[in-house]
Amino acid sequence: MKIAVLKETADGERRVSATPETVKKFIALGASMAVETGAGEAASISDADYVSAGALVGPREQVLGGAEAVFGVQGPDPASLNGLAPGALVIAALNPFGYRERVDGYAQAGVEALAMEFMPRITRAQSMDVLSSQANLGGYKAVLDAAAEYGRAFPMMMTAAGTIAAARVFIMGVGVAGLQAIATARRLGAIVSATDVRAATKEQIESLGAKAIFVQNVAGIEGEGSGGYATEMSDEYKAAQAELVSSHIAKQDIVITTALIPGRPAPRLISDAQIASMRPGSVIVDLAVEQGGNVEGAVLGAVVERHGVRIVGHRNVASRLAADSSALYARNLYNFLSAFWDKEAKRPVLPDDDEIVAGVRLTRGGQVVNQRLLAG
Ligand code: NAI
Repeated sequence: MKIAVLKETADGERRVSATPETVKKFIALGASMAVETGAGEAASISDADYVSAGALVGPREQVLGGAEAVFGVQGPDPASLNGLAPGALVIAALNPFGYRERVDGYAQAGVEALAMEFMPRITRAQSMDVLSSQANLGGYKAVLDAAAEYGRAFPMMMTAAGTIAAARVFIMGVGVAGLQAIATARRLGAIVSATDVRAATKEQIESLGAKAIFVQNVAGIEGEGSGGYATEMSDEYKAAQAELVSSHIAKQDIVITTALIPGRPAPRLISDAQIASMRPGSVIVDLAVEQGGNVEGAVLGAVVERHGVRIVGHRNVASRLAADSSALYARNLYNFLSAFWDKEAKRPVLPDDDEIVAGVRLTRGGQVVNQRLLAG
């Protein structure tokens, strides 16, 4: 089986979907690997590194010609996929809701599109979960981005010239990114607090040495829906949360928001009035800015200032750590395909009745077949 690894074309995308490590592993399974020239450059991987790992490196047409699988980080435009073997697999974070028309394009092109971000959240699929691997690094980088914008230090410092107070950091949304943000801010010496709508996170926050800020005594506080994701909260809960957060935020130096609800716009957590209550020089990082933002006035792809507070809205934060995010993403793809590898046929066999396959498969035999996509 020939696997093509494409150079990403989306603006600002620095990641790559295979590394020399995964190239070697796929070759060991009996695949041949073809990597587009310059695919790894922005993630500090040279063409020569891929050649040493055993890949063929060449222009796009050559890489795609006869390929039975195509790897990407973001999905390739279906119109750009000439020369593939019929029924070839296209495997990437395809953003199926955002690029719905592309999914139809994959069906028309007769390829089998597999969307990595539709990976079910089950134990067996943890090592294949690109949302987790990328969110983890995003949570780490958000803290560093905040530190870079902040005109003060994070740790308490006792110097000959006097003492500097530790920064107060508040994390809103304690999923994968939020947990890593707590751990990172703690390592930098900040005083950290955090909140979430899922009651289960309280213990996780405390086990990382941070203070849990939680709404008490409001109906429907569990906040946990299917697959460990958050649900939309009641109006009563939202009002209680806003009040609690208002008094807390006014005392914080750094706020990092990561709150998402699958299939919906990101919940609005911080209002303009709350920003105005913060000390000038404070920093807010909105990691949900690509899904509509948790913070009023956050601008996608920019750092803006409101009421003396800097609001950071970088795009594609994982891509800002391209070498590590590529390494993890590439392993997610390897873990996925190798789990279904048929050793004799030297190719993956994806059974229809497997929960993982049914979750990620978008198109097959010229049709859109994904239940989540057809329902939504
Ligand atoms: P996410 O990226 O969808 O959301 C981030 C966080 O925002 C979540 O913790 C969510 O509860 C929180 N949130 C939503 N609305 C909020 C609001 N109004 N106020 C405050 N917080 C709000 O979630 P993520 O990080 O992708 O994962 C959530 C959980 O899923 C994980 O903590 C884990 O328990 C589970 N998970 C399971 C996996 C598996 O078993 N394969 C893989 C990854 C995660």
